[in-house]
Amino acid sequence: MDALLQKILAAIAVFSVSLSTSYSLPFVVLHGIGDACGNRGMKHFTELLSEWSGSQGHCLEIGKGALDSWLMPLQEQTDIACEKVKEMNELSGGFNIVGLSQGNLIARGIIEFCDGALSVKNFISLGGPHAGTASVPLCGSGIFCLIADVLIKGEIYSDYVQEHLAPSGYLKIPTDMSNYLEKCRLLPKLNNERPNERNATYKERFSSLKNLVLIMNEQDRVLIPRESSWFGYYPDGAFSPVLPPQQTTLYKEDWIGLRSLDEAGRVKYISVAGDHLGISKSDMKKFMVPYLKDQSTPRPRHVSGRVASVWDTCMHAVGLQDNSPLLSPFGSIYEELHV
Ligand SMILES: *[C@@H]1O[C@H](CO)[C@@H](O)[C@H](O)[C@H]1NC(C)=O
Repeated sequence: MDALLQKILAAIAVFSVSLSTSYSLPFVVLHGIGDACGNRGMKHFTELLSEWSGSQGHCLEIGKGALDSWLMPLQEQTDIACEKVKEMNELSGGFNIVGLSQGNLIARGIIEFCDGALSVKNFISLGGPHAGTASVPLCGSGIFCLIADVLIKGEIYSDYVQEHLAPSGYLKIPTDMSNYLEKCRLLPKLNNERPNERNATYKERFSSLKNLVLIMNEQDRVLIPRESSWFGYYPDGAFSPVLPPQQTTLYKEDWIGLRSLDEAGRVKYISVAGDHLGISKSDMKKFMVPYLKDQSTPRPRHVSGRVASVWDTCMHAVGLQDNSPLLSPFGSIYEELHV
């Protein structure tokens, strides 16, 4: 009788362990412009976060990857991302998002625009142009330089450019606000900037995030100003000074719920060393991984010695140990990431 009871208890304990590991929320990674999920750097980045957090990570590709990230309008990219996440059964219980650079705006599109029963808990953003950028992304060669040329000629708010170049959706020239508000297709909508078109649903959805982790690169030379990663920006009409997030109208009037989130202690403003998208392994572990481990997971309350060892074995199996070997030096990851 006693032996049977013990067996049953052990079975329940093991069952609850497997329950809580399987309840760990998955996460989705959205890459930056010019990158692709199939690139070695993105694969490695997603794998490292999965390994360290014990949660399943999915890099979400939109269209054909690198080229579409440049040429497909962001609203369209956002619509595709929304449909994709709805089709992924593994996300139906809620998920977290890690956004890189431009991918952060697609992430916000998923959070704010996507109709359906989706629940994004934690949003971890590295180098996101949340308040816009006042400069064309760094010019490389070939098509990218042609694009930059067109943009520099001041056509960024024309229908043609808005329909053919993704970054035009978040180029915000502070001295050209009326054109920006009227013609820029993504960011004014995402940030509820148009006085007569503010949508309370966007605000409600954005402010229901559990945590908003805004990571800025201290030496970012791509985002102008780099404080855009924190929702900081120039005042309307001038290129100086850079306003901290709390002094922007978006924040003060709480257009999208940033202020509500902040006052509830749910916004983390983080700055890390490095140029655009540069982040060290230790900073990834410190500022990203904790939000990818599901804090709401019910853990077994009364852990006996036997169950604890089962638990530890599971943790080993999913690679949660901090000293697990890396596949290659981290520095090489971001050589493949652009913008
Ligand atoms: C606001 O956005 C939601 C979600 O996309 C949409 O269903 C609704 O129609 C919008 N409301 C207005 C007034 O545009």
